[in-house]
Amino acid sequence: MNTAELQQAFEEIFGKEADATFFSPGRINLIGEHTDYNGGHVFPAAITLGTYGAARKREDNVLRFYSANFEELGIIEVNLESLVYDKADNWTNYAKGVLKYLQEAGHMIDTGLDVFVYGNIPNGSGLSSSASLELLIGIIAEELFDLDLTRLDLVKIGKQTENQFIGVNSGIMDQFAIGMGADQRAIYLDTNTLEYELVPLDLGNHVIVIMNTNKRRELADSKYNERRAECEKAVEELNAVLNIQTLGELDAQTFDEYSYLIQDENRIKRARHAVWENQRTLQARQALEAGDLQQFGRLVNASHVSLEHDYEVTGLELDTLAHTAWQQEGVLGARMTGAGFGGCGIAIVEKDKVDAFTKNVGKTYTDIVGYAPSFYIAEIAAGSRVLSRK
Ligand code: GLA
Repeated sequence: MNTAELQQAFEEIFGKEADATFFSPGRINLIGEHTDYNGGHVFPAAITLGTYGAARKREDNVLRFYSANFEELGIIEVNLESLVYDKADNWTNYAKGVLKYLQEAGHMIDTGLDVFVYGNIPNGSGLSSSASLELLIGIIAEELFDLDLTRLDLVKIGKQTENQFIGVNSGIMDQFAIGMGADQRAIYLDTNTLEYELVPLDLGNHVIVIMNTNKRRELADSKYNERRAECEKAVEELNAVLNIQTLGELDAQTFDEYSYLIQDENRIKRARHAVWENQRTLQARQALEAGDLQQFGRLVNASHVSLEHDYEVTGLELDTLAHTAWQQEGVLGARMTGAGFGGCGIAIVEKDKVDAFTKNVGKTYTDIVGYAPSFYIAEIAAGSRVLSRK
């Protein structure tokens, strides 16, 4: 959507002109999966798929939200005085959470808002439509109430909303990638210190193909919280001898030496994934900077194998996509991206081979899974931003 279309859509719903229009991207993650709540590194990038918004300040305390993705819900109305989770308020809970925590942090949000939203991130795809929405609401409030906020403040408020308001114990990767993204750059982030670097994503004659399983990420949230708990328990067990806060502090060798302390085979696998994936992420960044794309691709593949066998968050759909992708000509690497359990994978594919790639992977996937996947070329873009201001 461009700004004129956004304005028009806003006026059709709310009968007045919007004060400003906004865009907040989605994200992919190149490598460093399920490391962000384990004190490790991640390597995501913001993409051009995302969430558009148009908003206007009101004179009363009413918040009115409309999403073109959920037309059947119509306008959802909430009072600024009662920012509490209510299942019936559907997607607007993300918006309520962000506004509530902004207020709690001392930011003055003293009137209501009319907000129009439209997202083109495929629903349930694991490309972070929720973090995209959280940051969108964050920048709407920042702009219209003239709040004094750093981007990192907004990133943290998005995460707080996810963790405390929605109840998903996620790490900071999604909000960070979406808030801090930059054109043609991947974000190399140490989730322990929040130090980060924008790394040019130079893939030569390759593009990143997003492969959507079209399987919704059901059960994802409960399994996600379960994995997180398994890793925390493993840290506790390792601390019978070691003294660590997170698995991200360990290198692979130290982990192997002390893994005997973990009393359960599954927990050993979960923890091993977290430790080794972190090491792979360090190596992947070095490979990318050295221009060694073959090595980068091998690490991407190894990440999938570890998520499949050790962390066990893939499933038939994501495995079929990755395994089939590996067999195609011109593919440097492929793996699942995001939380897993459905959602999307990524493949790094030679430009000239993309058509054959999507045709072949699409066919094999449909034969095995019973329905078709979807493919999109990922374009790496800037983070959440104001598009226009009246
Ligand atoms: C989800 C979470 C992130 C991260 C990934 C897995 O996207 O929101 O914080 O943990 O899963 O890497």
